[in-house]
Amino acid sequence: MLHKDIEKAINDQIKWEFWSGYLYLSMSSWFASKGLAGFAGWMKNQSGEELFHAMKMFDYVNERGGHAVLQTVDAPPSEWKSVLDALKTGLAHEGEVTARINALVDTAVKHKDHATSNFLQWFVAEQVEEEASFSDVVNKLELVGDGSALYMLDKELATRVFTWPAAADTQA
Ligand code: FEO
Repeated sequence: MLHKDIEKAINDQIKWEFWSGYLYLSMSSWFASKGLAGFAGWMKNQSGEELFHAMKMFDYVNERGGHAVLQTVDAPPSEWKSVLDALKTGLAHEGEVTARINALVDTAVKHKDHATSNFLQWFVAEQVEEEASFSDVVNKLELVGDGSALYMLDKELATRVFTWPAAADTQA
């Protein structure tokens, strides 16, 4: 049985993961409106990953005898100043998510909930990848600027794929 503090903290994080999915889907739409299909696809895949994160936590709460309660997900922004501005927003957002995941681990450790602590290690490792992948694109964008090389980068990003894992993979 999950401690109520842990249940609440994971439920709050589920909302954050869905909101992350909303944020990246909104960025995807903005990229598409600018004719940047590669960036749009890359960000749509990122959105899919966030929804998967939310579902992984959702399943975990219920599996542990808790109650995954869904919360209101605020509307994300829909405009950014530039491609770099959007990607930097994503990178900063991932930093916030990492801080939240770390705080969640702290809560699990405080309550000596080793199962939850172990479950959250997947997210700790995932955040390293997520920050690295945003950072990689931000670095490339800072190198190429807004010129024609942006279109080359758009082509490169079009190669990213996200395959929704089998339902069982969301179980801890
Ligand atoms: Fe689910 Fe990008 O953190």
